[in-house]
Amino acid sequence: MTRPLDHGDFAAASAAGLEGTIVANTILSDVDGTNGNLILRGRHIEDLAGNLPFEAAVEHLWGEQVRRSDSSLREAFARARIAAFEAASAMRHAPATLDIYDRMRLGLCAVPETEGLAKVEQISGAMPVLLAAAARMNNGQSPIAPDPSLSVAEDLYRMTTGENPSRDAVRTLDRYLVTILDHGLNASTFTARVIASTHADMRDAVVGAMSALKGPLHGGAPGPVLDMLDEVGTPEKADAWIAAELNRGNRLMGFGHRVYRTRDPRADVLKQGLAALPRDNPKIALAEAVEKAALSALARAKPNRPLDTNVEFYTAVLLDAIGMDRSLFTPLFATGRTPGWCAHVVEQQETGKLIRPGSTYVGPLAD
Ligand code: ACO
Repeated sequence: MTRPLDHGDFAAASAAGLEGTIVANTILSDVDGTNGNLILRGRHIEDLAGNLPFEAAVEHLWGEQVRRSDSSLREAFARARIAAFEAASAMRHAPATLDIYDRMRLGLCAVPETEGLAKVEQISGAMPVLLAAAARMNNGQSPIAPDPSLSVAEDLYRMTTGENPSRDAVRTLDRYLVTILDHGLNASTFTARVIASTHADMRDAVVGAMSALKGPLHGGAPGPVLDMLDEVGTPEKADAWIAAELNRGNRLMGFGHRVYRTRDPRADVLKQGLAALPRDNPKIALAEAVEKAALSALARAKPNRPLDTNVEFYTAVLLDAIGMDRSLFTPLFATGRTPGWCAHVVEQQETGKLIRPGSTYVGPLAD
């Protein structure tokens, strides 16, 4: 006996994307999509980003819940960077076809255990080294060894570019890394929690989360945002370019969000970071024109769906402004988000149960 595939049921289930479904309790972060607020363990993102270095923000997020070594986090991350540098040789022998992100995932699997450091510190502390080494290898350059006397932002910049960062570059990187530290149960964090719920290792959860982050509907968007700005070219062409893009049925990268029905607060935090940089950057005026054109075109095209600027739009302009190549945008996102993923893994391991949802079978019936 067979029953024809019921496309109606199938579409209803798959299009829902678990929207509105609560699958975990967390004390880490709250995304209030109605009012446009993001709170990390009791503090607004505006209070953290731009005011705290990355290490201090991670310390705040982890709080008492995430057990770690007795060292200061700056020291623990520095030790983790030194240990992670050993993994660079595994990345070097990888096929030349791998991109920076692939190499980072490979390197993460090869990071050795470091005695005296907690897993959260080893993994989170390794990411800047993996990013920098992978980026340099992909450019045919030798990786630069970490300098344990530096902060994460300083050393990340130095190991990646080979230059000592300006104060502006360090402040900007800190602001960016803090802004994207944690964000409720987004797709990559959910992935990390699903993997952690099977009692797999924290490293497996982070590798899986990195894979989920890579897609353009999630953390893969800022590179395409910069491509879009390049294609638009000048502010006066923004309206026509945006209209043509929407007419072709394409999505505008850097706009829309599953949870926010208003502006993503992180967009403004990053835009403020741009305002603190020297104003001779023509991309800022271009971005503002594209944003204005996009918001009014989206409001006309989708009157029933509030679509506003998300974090990825100004991520692209901000990171570009401090000389970060677009190939580094998603790797940088993963680097800043890793302590958030790790904290969710700890929370899942301590409070959660195997995550195993059901599905409605809408295929042919067996005889
Ligand atoms: N451009 C044009 N139309 C859009 C956009 C966009 N950026 N975003 C949503 N829409 C439209 C959809 O086409 C759909 O229209 P329809 O109902 O007429 O078919 C409607 O708005 C609802 O879209 P959904 O896909 O159901 O919304 P969802 O909540 O699943 O999507 C998402 C959220 C994936 C972020 C979406 O807004 C998008 O694709 N944005 C562009 C990519 C992007 O910027 N990603 C980064 C997100 S932030 C982050 O993850 C860190």
